[in-house]
Amino acid sequence: MKAVILAGGTGSRLKPLTYWTNKHLLPVGSYPMICYGVTKLRDSGIRNIVIITSRTALGGFAEVLGSGRDWGVSIMYRVQEEAGGIAQALELARPMMAPNDKFVVLLGDNLFEESLSPYCKQFDQQTDGAMVLLKKVEDPRRYGVPKLDEASGRIIHIVEKPEFPPSNYCVTGLYFYDTKVFDLIDGVKPSRRGELEITDVNNEFARNEQLSYGELIGWWTDAGTFESLEEAGRRLKGAIS
Ligand code: G1P
Repeated sequence: MKAVILAGGTGSRLKPLTYWTNKHLLPVGSYPMICYGVTKLRDSGIRNIVIITSRTALGGFAEVLGSGRDWGVSIMYRVQEEAGGIAQALELARPMMAPNDKFVVLLGDNLFEESLSPYCKQFDQQTDGAMVLLKKVEDPRRYGVPKLDEASGRIIHIVEKPEFPPSNYCVTGLYFYDTKVFDLIDGVKPSRRGELEITDVNNEFARNEQLSYGELIGWWTDAGTFESLEEAGRRLKGAIS
């Protein structure tokens, strides 16, 4: 399985830190944030990683990670010329995939404890559709929130940042797709904020009864706010091996 790490964006919730650097290069423990995603994917058995970031940030990622050689992986880079949403960024990985490839997509600010290997195996056995990883959270209103059909193990619908969450789960930034996702992205219209939303793509799978899920049990945080960035730093104090 391959992986795509989405590491663009403006990091608006972390200004003024992100005036001078990309969010995913900010320090967490002793390393730039991106290193945790890369090593977690490597330790889950993934060797080929595509990183998608902005034109101005690309040099920073190349300095930290290079070709990936020193990190035990092979890294390719794509540039997202302007912010157009998570789904638009993901579409840039299309030329890097072979027709039958399956891959995991990680939002680079998502930091977590568990190995992804069991979920990769689970998705390998899934014949079609997509899979997302969920996490039980205290305040789901900050996230994409799924309405679940626990009997079938499928997601009925995801609501983005709902006032009245349909469950206590958030959809984390860990998604599993095959190359059909690119055709679905082609059909998605920009949202009110003018972006191609990953939740709209996932809802297309859900509408076709093709969106399964797994649940993360260990700790998980998105380090996109000052509070969660500090939490990530507390949890990831030690060295990466
Ligand atoms: C994004 C997704 C949201 C998801 C979250 C996880 O939100 O749109 O569905 O729950 O990542 O980190 P953002 O953090 O970009 O607002």
